[in-house]
Amino acid sequence: MKTAVFDTKPYDRKYLTAAGAAKDVEWQFHEFRLSSETVPAAASASSVCVFVNDRVDDECMEALHELGVGHIALRCAGFNNVSLEAARRRGMVVTRVPAYSPHAVAEHTLALLLTLNRRIHRAYNRVRELNFSLNGLIGFDLFGKTVGIIGTGRIGRITAQIFRGFGCRVLAMDTRPDRAWADEIGVEYVDLETLLPRCDIVSLHVPLFPATLHLLNDRTLALMKRGAYLLNTSRGKLIDTTALIAVLKSGQLGGVALDVYEEEEGIFFEDLSGDVLQDDELSRLLTFPNVLITSHQAFLTHEALTEIARVTAENLVRISAGQPALDGTLVS
Ligand code: NAI
Repeated sequence: MKTAVFDTKPYDRKYLTAAGAAKDVEWQFHEFRLSSETVPAAASASSVCVFVNDRVDDECMEALHELGVGHIALRCAGFNNVSLEAARRRGMVVTRVPAYSPHAVAEHTLALLLTLNRRIHRAYNRVRELNFSLNGLIGFDLFGKTVGIIGTGRIGRITAQIFRGFGCRVLAMDTRPDRAWADEIGVEYVDLETLLPRCDIVSLHVPLFPATLHLLNDRTLALMKRGAYLLNTSRGKLIDTTALIAVLKSGQLGGVALDVYEEEEGIFFEDLSGDVLQDDELSRLLTFPNVLITSHQAFLTHEALTEIARVTAENLVRISAGQPALDGTLVS
C-alpha cells in the first residue's frame, strides 16, 4: 500500500518509517506541501498523509480523486485545512489523529508562559555572554493569578489542571462546558465577555472554525485586562494579527506567547535564516520584547510523534482493508 507523505521533515520520516515497517505501509516522502499544484506527486499512491499546512481544498480533492487516491490521513488533530465536504461528495475517507498527546501541547503552553514571564530566553543569552545582571528580568508569580482557558477540550482541560497546580484561579469558556470536570478541579465557566477583563493570563485552546476565526479581535482584545498575557498554541487565525499588533503597541498587553501565527503557512517549519522575511506583520511581532514565538512546535515530543505515526499507519492499513479506522474518522 503506497502512501504519499507531504510536508515531510526528518522527524516525520523517522517516526513514520518505524511505525510503517511493521504494517507494510510504503511511504513516499515529499518535502513540499500538498496543494492542487503538487497533486501529481501522489500519482502512484492510494492514500496521502498530510499535516497542518497542506491545503486540501475542493480543487485538490478533485485532483486526488481523479488519481484514484481514496484516503486522506491527517497526521495532526486540527483539520481546518481540509475540505471535508469535498471529500464527502466524492466518497473519499478522511482520518486524523485526534489525541496523540494533549500533554505535549499543554506543557508547551506553560513552557512559553514561564519563559516569557521569567525572561528565561533573555537570561540564557545574557549569562552566556558573562552578563550576570538581573536588570530587566522581573517576572510575576503565577500563584494566585486568574487564568482564562478558552476551549476546555482535551488540551484546554490539561492546561487548566496544570494552572490549578500552580495555585491559579481558573475561569473557562466553552460552548460545551464540562461541568462535572470543572467542579472536580475547581474551574468556573463564564462567558467570553466576563472572562477577558478578569484574567491575568488568557490561553486559547479552541479549534479554528468560522465561529472562532478572529475570536480575539479589536473588540475582544480591548476587553482584556491591562498588562495581561495572551497565549495561543491552538491556531493562528484565532487572533486578528493587525489588532494584536495595535494592542501591543499601545501597551495594553503585558506579554504574548504564540506557537501559531495567522499566516504561518510557508514560514513555520522552514529554515528561512538566509532569506528576507516578506511578512511585515510577523516581522513587527518579532520586534516586541514581550512577544515570544515558537514555530508550531507544541506537538513535538517523542511521545506525540510515536503516537501520531502509530495511529496514522494503523488507520491506513484498516481503511485499505475496508475496516473502520482506529481513531479519528472525519469522513468515512
Ligand atoms: P478538542 O476538540 O478536544 O477541544 C476543543 C474544545 O473547543 C471543545 O471542548 C469544544 O467544545 C470547544 N469549542 C469549539 N468551538 C468553540 C467555540 N466557538 N467557543 C468556545 N469553545 C468552543 O481539541 P483539542 O485536542 O483540545 O485541541 C484544540 C486545538 O489545539 C486543535 O483544534 C488544534 O487546532 C490545536 N492544536 C495545536 C497543536 C500545536 O502543535 N500547536 C497540536 C495539537 C492541536
